[in-house]
Amino acid sequence: MASADPAMVVVTTANGDERSGCLVGFHAQSSIAPHGYAVWISKANHTYGVVVRATHLAVHFLTEDDAELAATFGTLTGDRVDKFARVAWRRGPAGVPILNGSDHGLVGRKVSLLDDGGDHVIVTIDPVEVWSREPFTPLRLSAVESPIDTFERWRGDGPSDLDVVVTGMPRQISFAPSGVTTGFANATYTLVRGSARKQVIVSRYGRVRIQ
Ligand SMILES: Cc1cc2nc3c(=O)[nH]c(=O)nc-3n(C[C@H](O)[C@H](O)[C@H](O)COP(=O)(O)O)c2cc1C
Repeated sequence: MASADPAMVVVTTANGDERSGCLVGFHAQSSIAPHGYAVWISKANHTYGVVVRATHLAVHFLTEDDAELAATFGTLTGDRVDKFARVAWRRGPAGVPILNGSDHGLVGRKVSLLDDGGDHVIVTIDPVEVWSREPFTPLRLSAVESPIDTFERWRGDGPSDLDVVVTGMPRQISFAPSGVTTGFANATYTLVRGSARKQVIVSRYGRVRIQ
């Protein structure tokens, strides 16, 4: 699916004083008449909880210049940081945060939220405000994540083929249906190859940090 190289958007939403937003690759126009748009939101995201309670969502179509915005909304979580303290924004319809400088986007009223048993819910919206300038070159998945890192590397041979050894106690990580790991706060693995040493830390939220 990475070969389809989808365009990236940032979905934001609000319910009263709570705000949230995340980078989204799963999205599409879902109706022509009446207009409809659909986004798929992971149940593991902070954004999900706010989306459930919200009445409106904004979809910001990212351009090639928006890599930093994509990193902010795609790698940080509202569970721990206030992304909206890091970017300029204004209140749109129903208080939905609209990112300043967004030249292409829409705000929509939430029409339906379907949990079909997958790890994402499908949210359809009825656009109430749409803005766009000239045609633009979208920021695509390939510019956000290297397919080599995210797909090919995992399909390849194991690290032991490269003489990398994992030190420390073996650990098994279990993920709850919510996407949160169970049983420990963080799991830390130390990889050693010759004199090189890297730590891989898997957080409770399933996020992986390498240092
Ligand atoms: C390339 C890329 C595509 C993503 N696509 C989606 C998506 O379609 N739906 C979704 O809910 N999360 C998607 N995410 C994950 C969220 O953007 C990411 O986990 C974010 O940090 C969640 O923030 P939150 O916990 O504040 O909601 C994507 C992340 C990346 C890097």
